[in-house]
Amino acid sequence: MSFKTFVLAAACAVLAASGAVAATKTSPVKTLMNKTVVPSSTLIFAVGGEADPGSGTKVSPARWNQASAAAGRLKAAAHSMQKPPMAVDQKLWKRYSAELAAAADKAQKAAVAKNGARFSQAANDMGESCSNCHAKYQGRT
Ligand code: HEC
Repeated sequence: MSFKTFVLAAACAVLAASGAVAATKTSPVKTLMNKTVVPSSTLIFAVGGEADPGSGTKVSPARWNQASAAAGRLKAAAHSMQKPPMAVDQKLWKRYSAELAAAADKAQKAAVAKNGARFSQAANDMGESCSNCHAKYQGRT
């Protein structure tokens, strides 16, 4: 799958899953998703597409700075998911949130180094942690 196809598939999976969740009270996880995880990862996915060596796009220094800042926010969000009240369990939840933090850290380092190949790989890893966690936990917080 190309990077763009993957991002589209991931975005559709998130939309489909969120539509299926009943609108009851707002959990802290849901608030964090909408306030921090979604905006920061949307920017990272977009820069991931631009930074892909096959895209032919030159990523500007200002754009790399935005990407690095977004990755830092995402990493902090992933760490906060590992603590109460958001930590659901110490097993797969811990693993998926740690994978999200690791992907964000890799993205941040790649953005600082302006390394397009590593940045788009980190964006792909990040997308996998979103889908893995939603498949198991969405609707359970
Ligand atoms: C460690 C688990 C975990 C990871 C990783 C994760 N999410 Fe979530 N996400 C959840 C859970 C749980 C919900 C459901 C929250 C609820 O409805 O109470 C959710 C809900 C969502 C929603 C729906 C919000 C709504 O208003 O219903 C979106 C969009 C979302 N996540 C995006 C993302 C994206 C993008 C990523 C990756 C960058 C990501 N999530 C990573 C656990 C995770």
